[in-house]
Amino acid sequence: MHMNQRRRLVGAVLAVLVLGSCSFGSSDVAPQADSSTRPPATPTPSSGGTEPTPGDSDNSHEADADEIRTRTLTAIDPRYHATWPDIPGADPLNQALTEAVKAQVVDFVADLPEAAPDAAAAVPELNIGWHLIAESDTVVGVRLTSYLFAGAGGAERSRTWWFDRSTSELVDNSALSADPDKFARALAWTVRAPGVDRDLVRDSVADGLSDVSFTDSGALEVRFDEYAVAPGSSGVVTVRLSADLTTRLLTDFGGAARAAASVSPVDAEDDELVTPAPPQGDSATHGPDDSPSVEPNNPESGPESGESEHPGQSGPDAGPNPGSDREVDCSRLKCVALTFDDGPVADTERLLRKLRHLDAPATFFVLGQQAAVYPETLAKVARAGHEIGVHTWDHKQLTSLGGRDIRDEIVSSVREVRKATGVRPTLLRPPYGATGPRIDAITARLGLAQVLWNVDTRDWAVKSVNPIVREVRRSARRNSIVLMHDIHRTSVDAVPQVVRTLRNRGYTLVTVSQLLGDTTPGHRYYSGN
Ligand code: NI
Repeated sequence: MHMNQRRRLVGAVLAVLVLGSCSFGSSDVAPQADSSTRPPATPTPSSGGTEPTPGDSDNSHEADADEIRTRTLTAIDPRYHATWPDIPGADPLNQALTEAVKAQVVDFVADLPEAAPDAAAAVPELNIGWHLIAESDTVVGVRLTSYLFAGAGGAERSRTWWFDRSTSELVDNSALSADPDKFARALAWTVRAPGVDRDLVRDSVADGLSDVSFTDSGALEVRFDEYAVAPGSSGVVTVRLSADLTTRLLTDFGGAARAAASVSPVDAEDDELVTPAPPQGDSATHGPDDSPSVEPNNPESGPESGESEHPGQSGPDAGPNPGSDREVDCSRLKCVALTFDDGPVADTERLLRKLRHLDAPATFFVLGQQAAVYPETLAKVARAGHEIGVHTWDHKQLTSLGGRDIRDEIVSSVREVRKATGVRPTLLRPPYGATGPRIDAITARLGLAQVLWNVDTRDWAVKSVNPIVREVRRSARRNSIVLMHDIHRTSVDAVPQVVRTLRNRGYTLVTVSQLLGDTTPGHRYYSGN
C-alpha cells in the first residue's frame, strides 16, 4: 500500500531520464550545491515537471529511424546505473520498459538507508541492463536484468518483454503458450532444482511468468528468480522444455517469437566478429551534416543547436589523429587528460565532431554493453585517435562482486572493445571509482591499469555547462585526470569551453596513456606524476 504512495512521491522528484541523447536543456536541472552530503540522490524535475517520454530522446531531424537507441538513468550517489533500449516502431514496449526501470529506481532510492557512501566501500547499488532476445518484422523480445546489491549480497532478477509488431501490443510471457494448464504441467514436470515447489511453478503460470525466452535450438526456457519457486540456495531456477514439447505448446505468436529469437542479430554478430578487421575509413560516407557547424564560439550550444547526433551521419570525425600518436612530453608540458565514461551512445558522435574541431584528444572508458550496441561509433572513436579504456560490461560496482564476476565484467568488455576497434584496451576505470585489493589483484592479472580521476566535474549531477566549466577551471592542475560522461548532452555541450579554458591556462590536452606513460597493471592512477 505505501509502496504506491512512496512511488508517487519519489516519482515526483525522480528527475531526469538521462537519455543516451537526452533532450533536456542545460538549465533544466539545478546544480546540487554540496557533493558530499545526501541526498543528492534524486535530481530535481525537468522543466514543467513533465516526465520524459520514450520519444523524447531523438532530435527531430533524426535520419535513421531503424536504429535501436539506448537510454540511461544513472547516479553515483546513490549508486545506480540503468540502461535499456528504445526500439524503433515499438513504442508501447519502450514505454513499458521505461516505466519498469523507473519504478525500480524509485523503489531503490526510497529504500536506501541513511548512510554516507564511501567511495572505496561496496554500498547499496542497483544495476539494470538489457538484452535483445528476439527481433524480427513481427516480434521483439527484450530481457531486463536487475542486479540489486543491498550491502551484504547481490540478487539478480530478470524479466522478459514480448511485443507483437503487427498489433503493436505487448504480449504477456504466459500468453506465448496456447494452453496455460498444459504449459503449467509441462513446467512442473520438467523442473529440476533442489527443494523446488512444483505447486508454485504451476501457480506462476497463472500469476504471470516473469522470464520466458527461447534457446538457439528452439527450446522454451523459463527462469524463476531466486526464492520464487525454491529455496534461495537453489539460486535462479531455469526450466527448459524440449523443442518438440515447445512446438506443441506455442501460440502463433509464440511460434513467431521463437523464430525471431533464433535469428537474433545480436547473437549472430557475437559469433562472427571474434577477430575484427581493422576499421575502414568512412570518408566516402560524408553527408550534408559534415559542415563544421560545431562552434567553437557558442558557449550556449545546447540541444537546440541543431547538431545531428546520429551515428549514421559520419561527421569529420575520422580524420587524422587529434593527438594520441603525437609526441608529447608531460614532464615538460602542463598536461591534462579529459576522460568520458559510460558510452558509447549516439551522442558520442557529436562529441567526436567537437573534439575533432578542437583538435583535442580524449580518453573514453566504455561499457561493453554499449560497445555492443554502437560498435561503429566506437570504431570511429578509435580511428579519430582517442584512447579507449574499459568501464566493465554493465557498470556494476566491482567491490560488490565475487572474483569470477569481477573478471567476467572486465574480460567481456575488453573483448567487446577489441571486437569493435581491433585494439585491446589496457586501462580500466572501475564504475563509481569503487576499487579494492581484490580488484587490484585481478586487474594486475588481466594486464589492466586502473585509472581513477582527481577532477570530478560532477556533470552527472549538475547537467549544466557552466558548473562543469567552472569546476574544471577551479580544480584542474598539472597532470590532472578529469572525469566527464558523454551520456549527458550537457557534458558534450561543455567540451569546447572546457578545452578552451584549459588551453587558456597553458594546459596541453593528452590521452591518459600520454599522461601516464608506461603503466603498471593493477595499479591505481588518480593523476599523472
Ligand atoms: Ni560510470
